[in-house]
Amino acid sequence: LAKVEVDLASIPEGKNVTIKWRGKPVFIRHRTADEISEAESVKVTELRDPQSDAERVKKPEWLVMLGVCTHLGCVPIGEAGDYGGWYCPCHGSHYDISGRIRKGPAPLNLEVPEYNFAEDKLIVG
Ligand code: FES
Repeated sequence: LAKVEVDLASIPEGKNVTIKWRGKPVFIRHRTADEISEAESVKVTELRDPQSDAERVKKPEWLVMLGVCTHLGCVPIGEAGDYGGWYCPCHGSHYDISGRIRKGPAPLNLEVPEYNFAEDKLIVG
């Protein structure tokens, strides 16, 4: 199946959920207002892979991305690392609350897959 549906009401604010899509983990975070402000306040020009938060989300409260470290493909850990987002324990890459690489060997931000919203559902794929 190419598409996966997720009931958004099942993910409370401030929580992460991981689903499988095409054999890969997809991270979904229901971000808090503070996390959204934090993600939007970062200076894009200071980033290794410069992307604004707005380029990475369709709705600020929902962050959706592949749970595959862009270094060598490990699965990062949520609510960890120095930037309030994800931490990859394999070689120490730190991602922020927008999934952008901030420190460590990974070259790129966590990849955002194709997805859409339909009523109260998120459809990945
Ligand atoms: Fe994540 Fe190397 S695979 S830091």
